[in-house]
Amino acid sequence: MKIIDISIKDYPYKVYIDRSLLLNIDNYIDVNRQIVIITDDFIPKIYLNTIKDKMNNPLIFEVPQGETSKSMEIVYSIIDEMIKSEITRKCLIIALGGGVIGDLAGFIASIYMRGVDFIQIPTTLLSQIDSSIGGKVGINATNMKNAIGSFYHPQMVLIDPNTLKTLSVREYNNGVAEMIKYGMIADKSLFNDLLQTNISENIEYYIEKCINIKKHLVLKDLFDKGERQLLNFGHTIGHAIEKYSNYNLLHGESISIGMALMSKNYKHYDLLIKILQKHSLPFEYEYNKEKIFNYIKTDKKASKEMINIILVKEIGKSFIEPIKITEIKKYL
Ligand SMILES: NC(=O)c1ccc[n+]([C@@H]2O[C@H](COP(=O)([O-])OP(=O)(O)OC[C@H]3O[C@@H](n4cnc5c(N)ncnc54)[C@H](O)[C@@H]3O)[C@@H](O)[C@H]2O)c1
Repeated sequence: MKIIDISIKDYPYKVYIDRSLLLNIDNYIDVNRQIVIITDDFIPKIYLNTIKDKMNNPLIFEVPQGETSKSMEIVYSIIDEMIKSEITRKCLIIALGGGVIGDLAGFIASIYMRGVDFIQIPTTLLSQIDSSIGGKVGINATNMKNAIGSFYHPQMVLIDPNTLKTLSVREYNNGVAEMIKYGMIADKSLFNDLLQTNISENIEYYIEKCINIKKHLVLKDLFDKGERQLLNFGHTIGHAIEKYSNYNLLHGESISIGMALMSKNYKHYDLLIKILQKHSLPFEYEYNKEKIFNYIKTDKKASKEMINIILVKEIGKSFIEPIKITEIKKYL
């Protein structure tokens, strides 16, 4: 088993990575307390059944899979049911699923009766290496992703890499895209491993490596005002492309294209394309530049005039550059 301490002042928590974790859930949490499990209807039932069988009649919500479940309607319907079921402030909310479920359940935990305990059990590669760490929780509104949300940390994160066995190849590679990003911004050896070896054989090691990179940046900048923004490499253009594709492109696929566009003028461009191709990730897309630019202007991270972009000067070394928002056009 691997244990990572996320030593955030006042809200420290641990990440456990272990292949028999779901089977032994009662070793990690008090299964006799009031428990609410939030999951989605596409995740293989075996995971829900494995943990719920160890618990004392948990309240279970299975929301429709996909981004549309990060909505106020779903939040309200779950909270309404929790109140009717007499769920108290002492409850524990468990997020069992990918980033959608982590963001949704974490947001509900942050507002229900002014905040209740919650733990993350991420079941996609993307959520295991990225979204379950760092405390960002939230939902979408009025066509804006993560428009409503807060910073709210879980009590613990429980990662069972066995859950990745049922993930589709496309969803797996979606997570690999974020691994490539970590390599690009902070870790050349990770990048080289992703290029040269089969990481799935030793996935625990790579999950731990990625979490440590994110942890390092999050601890320096809890509220995403400084160095944590390095994690956004490829994301400004990527988010715009994701929206432009009407979410037909997955998040990791969109940021792959974003990373490629931000690297056009650098020596490492060819190597980046090679690694993306190796993992069946896209690096280009037909789009209308003006529309993409308009989406970027409405990015949460943009001000009216300026935006911070992330550039990689050589693999493993990145920096933040504030530019006039119109200058982003030269990357499109
Ligand atoms: N909070 C953060 O810091 C943060 C960071 C990155 C992304 N996000 C958010 O994460 C979300 C994307 O997360 P995601 O990529 O995990 O998507 P997701 O949660 O939609 O999961 C992808 C698909 O995989 C299925 N699935 C989940 N686990 C499975 C398993 N073990 N086997 C088979 N199928 C499984 C789900 O049902 C879904 O259909 C977005 O909403 C994004 O905004 C949040």
